[in-house]
Amino acid sequence: MNASSESARANRLAIEGGTPVRTAPLPWELPGAHWIGEEERELVDRVVKAQSPFRFYGPDPQHMVETLEKEWRERFGHRHALAVSSGTAALSIALSALQVGPGDEVLIAGYMWVSCVSAIVRCGAIPRLVDIDATFCMDPDDLEAKINPRSRVILLVHMSGAPGHVRRIAEIAKKHGLGLIEDCAQAAGASQDGTPVGRFGDIATFSFQLNKNMTSGDGGMIVSDDDELFRRIVALHDLGYARNAAGRLDTSDESCQLWGMGARMSDLAGAMALAQSRKLSQITGAMRQAKWKIREALSDIPDLTFRTVADPAGDSGPFMITTFSDAETCTRFVEALRAEGIRGPEGSLSCLTMREWGLHWYFNIPSLTNKRSNSRDGFPWTHPANAFASEISYDRGNLPVCDDLHDRSALLTIASKLTGDDVDDIILAHRKVANGLFNR
Ligand SMILES: Cc1ncc(COP(=O)(O)O)c(C=O)c1O
Repeated sequence: MNASSESARANRLAIEGGTPVRTAPLPWELPGAHWIGEEERELVDRVVKAQSPFRFYGPDPQHMVETLEKEWRERFGHRHALAVSSGTAALSIALSALQVGPGDEVLIAGYMWVSCVSAIVRCGAIPRLVDIDATFCMDPDDLEAKINPRSRVILLVHMSGAPGHVRRIAEIAKKHGLGLIEDCAQAAGASQDGTPVGRFGDIATFSFQLNKNMTSGDGGMIVSDDDELFRRIVALHDLGYARNAAGRLDTSDESCQLWGMGARMSDLAGAMALAQSRKLSQITGAMRQAKWKIREALSDIPDLTFRTVADPAGDSGPFMITTFSDAETCTRFVEALRAEGIRGPEGSLSCLTMREWGLHWYFNIPSLTNKRSNSRDGFPWTHPANAFASEISYDRGNLPVCDDLHDRSALLTIASKLTGDDVDDIILAHRKVANGLFNR
């Protein structure tokens, strides 16, 4: 092959028979998992050796969960922090701490995760969908338009690693006397203008599931600055009651006799989460640096629009979202990128159209669109206090911006251990595909 035909082959898109930019898969997403090492093993070992995996009592408790909570408070400036078994449980506990139930509406953006609507419905309340904007988080103008006398709480989800209009939404919550829960499951370690996520609302929740910025396999955290709310949070996450100094249940406080959710974190998970939490800023720093290097290198491509991130310095970095002129271009771009080798190992979800992002979009959640119930009586949809819900539809078509961005956006996960070569390949592949598809 002569030099010019070689260069023609290198420029030809791999999807059209050209040479791919790379053949080795990119690393798995799963930010925290790449950093699991000796520190986690050492702390887990201590719990195993002490034969004491329960946080509240045992032969020789190692206080891993307690230390995790203490360090979390100090790191992010919260008055209270409680580790729990999952981000989903954390949401249920937060809503019940605010006494949300039948007759109440909880405002939630249409781009979120199934756990958010699941927590709302299980506590007997009704989700009220709010549209998103170019931040891929809740649109404050649509929020104001959706607020009505039944609104009780705003569940603000910091999607895909970074917050949107969090300050404006906190102001709206205050103005209307609504509770504000921040779901920080996808954004641990993120901030806006120096304020960490979780510091804007009444309660904030985190997840330590495997595909989160830090992980203990499963796990989560709830934070609040409010003493009374936190007393309820502690009882709700356990068996409905406080515990005494010996770690035994204490039913004597008549003001705190609730129904617990059995969502304690074990000291084994606590050991993992503690070791990971000490690495969180390194993990998010690595993703942020790689992501913004890629975004900056591609900023001159006019047909590629990036998600708006108000404060790039506070982005925790695990996802890069791009938007195209239409759905067909988006699909062709993503398929061409994958053919260039911009994909993870088998089974990973690393280079996708938003149409492949399942239960993150309201109309993809069948239990929501079909108003399913966990009980035979159809609760909460059939509860008399929720009669208004019969007029609410959750089908596609209710949130125009969500529907539009879902169709023509794509998502690339930014692994926390990308090498310089990986980053260069991602940039090169995007430029090559943009050149091949847009400059014909
Ligand atoms: C926005 C959001 N909220 C809540 C959760 C639930 O967390 P978990 O899987 O720990 O229950 C997730 C996890 O995927 C999430 O992405």
